[in-house]
Amino acid sequence: MAEPGKKGPVYVTTPIYYVNDKPHIGHAYCTILTDTYRRFHRLFGYDTYFLTGVDEHGQKVQDAAKKRGITPQAHCDEMQAHFRNLWPTLHVEPDDFIRTTQPRHEMVVQKALQQLYDKGDIYSDEYEGWYSPWVEKFFTEDELVDGKCPETGKEVYKLKERNYFFRMSRYEEALRQHIMEHPDFLVPEYRKNEVLGFLKKGLRDLCISRPKSRLSWGVTLPFDQDYVTYVWFDALLNYVSAIGLYTDDERFRYWWSGVHHFIGKDILTTHSVYWTTMLLALGLPLPRHIIATGWWLTDDTKMSKSLGNVVNPLDLKEKYGADALRYFLMRAMVIGQDANFSELQMAERYNGDLANDFGNLLSRATKLINKQFGPVIPTPGEYTDDDRALIDAAKALPGLVQDAVASYRIDVAIEEVLKFVRSANKYFNDQEPWAVVKTDKQRAATIGYVALQAAQIAAMLMHPIMPQKTRDMLESLSSKPADTIDAIKWGMLEPGKPFEVLGSLFPRIDLKKLKAQIEKQNEKPKPAQTRPEITIDDFAKLDIRTGKVLSAEPVKGSNKLIRMQIDLGPFGKRQIVGGLGLQYEAQDLVGKTVIVLANLKPRKLFGLESQGMLLAAGEGKVIALLEPDKPVSPGSGIS
Ligand code: MSP
Repeated sequence: MAEPGKKGPVYVTTPIYYVNDKPHIGHAYCTILTDTYRRFHRLFGYDTYFLTGVDEHGQKVQDAAKKRGITPQAHCDEMQAHFRNLWPTLHVEPDDFIRTTQPRHEMVVQKALQQLYDKGDIYSDEYEGWYSPWVEKFFTEDELVDGKCPETGKEVYKLKERNYFFRMSRYEEALRQHIMEHPDFLVPEYRKNEVLGFLKKGLRDLCISRPKSRLSWGVTLPFDQDYVTYVWFDALLNYVSAIGLYTDDERFRYWWSGVHHFIGKDILTTHSVYWTTMLLALGLPLPRHIIATGWWLTDDTKMSKSLGNVVNPLDLKEKYGADALRYFLMRAMVIGQDANFSELQMAERYNGDLANDFGNLLSRATKLINKQFGPVIPTPGEYTDDDRALIDAAKALPGLVQDAVASYRIDVAIEEVLKFVRSANKYFNDQEPWAVVKTDKQRAATIGYVALQAAQIAAMLMHPIMPQKTRDMLESLSSKPADTIDAIKWGMLEPGKPFEVLGSLFPRIDLKKLKAQIEKQNEKPKPAQTRPEITIDDFAKLDIRTGKVLSAEPVKGSNKLIRMQIDLGPFGKRQIVGGLGLQYEAQDLVGKTVIVLANLKPRKLFGLESQGMLLAAGEGKVIALLEPDKPVSPGSGIS
């Protein structure tokens, strides 16, 4: 049941992150967004619950653990900490952190599997398909691209296997109907067409098992001990195992009725099709909302570990602080759309929005009032029309913020607050309290109060975005973050209470220095210099030909030199002594076709005449003899 006085439940979830990865800005974004959305709803009076966690089963985890020579469980225990420990440092406060290896979760997975098996929605069948071990998926012949895995472009293998299938096809129509009848089910709404398009192709049943002989790191099927379940079937159930499916029906039904899944657009199908059909089969209500976000890109490409273009949230947090990072991620991205990540853009926004506008209002007002009246919140006198214009804007602000958040436009909510802050800064400038105080102390006090009251309201509404900085600001005004939005009212700031003049809340970033740093980082190393230019006539002086190694033996007394007899076809045989002994065994050279500089002046090495030189690439430890890539006869010219 909802706590007395609270609106209904809002249960927010993030995807559970693959435990193998190190968290990057994409993970941080989705989690901060979920945290922010939750904080706003708590402020709006909803009863809220926030779940995040990690996805721990599957081939990649099993392989990574094997490589490290430790058990998969030990590997997971270590890796999950990367995520669990990161969140508090970004002021993310989940109520629960689920791991798919926890018994509370595995129990639910097994019960769900059994329930579906008993009702005939899971069946066993022989399956033949093209298996891609890289993504752990089967593909049909026509899904392959040039006979290769369509997702990685790598080799696929024909595999015939008995497996278990979930009768997903049975729920195609029910799902289509649900989507049509609930326009706010998929957010943004335009994602609907993508999912309907997927359904149009016809839903096939889903292979949900892996034989243990191939993959053992997973949840065992309760009805067949030789199999584990497919990692997505396992992972998706985290959303219900964490809130008491099968163990606490009342708790489960309560939170489930208000679920909002925040996910990235790349996992929309698994959530809107696999997960929803699983829920339909289990007889459970479908999620209220699935919110698919866009991607953070670097130079228009999705960040990924394999491309090496990831932005590390911890580095940015160290440099700018967690709240400024949260601010940028929430302000710069429109939910659902992609955005390029640029540190320079982040710094520019930081200077413009936070240092110049948001932080400045409080800092200027407190400094001036302190100078004029001491560190006490002044008592306002009669309000003028100018005051009233700002007061009206302040009164409208909570409603504007609430509307923007309700339509998932957190960027717009922020912009509304910033717009208000800018007009409060302008008001303070225009009213010139530093001049007014000389002739009318009461008026100066009123201006001071209006500015402080405006700053307090802005800080309270910005609290879900920047929890720590706004708390500091509010505490400096003998206040604290509001418990509910209804408490955010003009006049709540108490005259007579002490305030504190804070140091710089958002110290300005030196953009010039940053630009120079970024330029330096992006600077490509200068290409190395080649030798002085030659003409084609110079090159033509070299007589380079193919040759076949007839015999090869180490030169006595040298650990490097090998003496070879080389057949140069019409140009006869040559003795060549080359320094290949550290790279090649002499006998392995016999039979090779090599490239010979044939008109090099002979010279003596260890008393043996060398009548030419073999061409090789590389230097130091790696030396590779050049070889033609097709058979050619000895003595062929090279041009
Ligand atoms: N384990 C699955 C989710 C199972 S949920 C039942 C998974 N994990 S993930 O770690 O690969 O990705 C988690 C989320 O991070 C996805 O929603 C994905 O979209 C998001 N992001 C990964 N890179 C991203 C960006 N560059 N930008 C924004 N979000 C992206 O998928």
